[in-house]
Amino acid sequence: MSKPKVLVIKTLSEEARQYLSTYCEIDEAPPGIIADRDALKARLAGASGLLQSGVAINEELLAAAPGLKIVSNISVGYNNYDIQAMKARGVMGTNTPYVLDDTVADLIVGLMISAARRLPELDAMVKRGEWGELGGKSDEPYFGLDVHHATLGIIGMGRIGEAVAKRAAHGFDMKVLYSNRNRKPEAEKQYGAEYRTMEQLLQQSDFIIIMTPLTPETHRMIGKEQFDMMKRTAILINASRGQIIDEPAMIAALQQKRIFAAGLDVFEQEPVAADNPLLQLPNVVTLPHIGSATARTRHDMLMAAARNLVAGITGQRPPNLVPELAEIE
Ligand code: DGY
Repeated sequence: MSKPKVLVIKTLSEEARQYLSTYCEIDEAPPGIIADRDALKARLAGASGLLQSGVAINEELLAAAPGLKIVSNISVGYNNYDIQAMKARGVMGTNTPYVLDDTVADLIVGLMISAARRLPELDAMVKRGEWGELGGKSDEPYFGLDVHHATLGIIGMGRIGEAVAKRAAHGFDMKVLYSNRNRKPEAEKQYGAEYRTMEQLLQQSDFIIIMTPLTPETHRMIGKEQFDMMKRTAILINASRGQIIDEPAMIAALQQKRIFAAGLDVFEQEPVAADNPLLQLPNVVTLPHIGSATARTRHDMLMAAARNLVAGITGQRPPNLVPELAEIE
């Protein structure tokens, strides 16, 4: 019997290729296919599964793939899924939670320190040979802000938020505030985290971390009104999705020094455009969406996504079916 065909838009490791080829016929497409919807539709026509990250899965694409049973994201976020369209067609959707929590939390702490202590700005200054230009006068131009004992506000207290809270409370003696749909009694007990309304959190925090998923409700939830509530010394960190912040409002707040700095792993448009004003601002730390990008974690994510895919095409329940699609058999 021939094996089901799956379209893979990802460079596979040997381990992943071997595992997948036991169960499926693999069609490996180049990453560039993501931008060419017609080519993508043609390649998906006979596929039972799709392994990728970030491809917009909507009715138009699903209509071109009538045999598709499962889309497996190599990411924890799944804002690329049109849930209604997938439900209507009975297509399963999975993600890769758990394996990246600590890696992303580490990066968030890195962004907090980088933005507060101005690491990229001062690193660039040293490399330009400008260290000695102050001539031994004051070193005040190098001053940053303390991370330890500051107040951290986490918007979206999921697993990654809790991993950041742990580091902040136990490693940096920070006071932890959080805003979330549900209270988190365990985080309150373990890390002394205190629940706040969004408005209170924005007003009281020194560091504001965006960790909420991108949904229609969270789209551009941080705009001018929210920036106006923040302390002038606030540092905003976003390692979730760029569209949660109103980017022009953030640029204005940073340019006018209404907040101290930002640390960004994500942007409204990715890759970020070369002329985006954020790239010109010394008080912004910019990264190319690498929250989970360590060799080990990306390996674990790929293998988790491969297992989800194989479960979906072999009639089993994938371990990480996203909750909104849990009823699909
Ligand atoms: C995730 O896993 O969602 C990361 O942000 C990479 O997209």
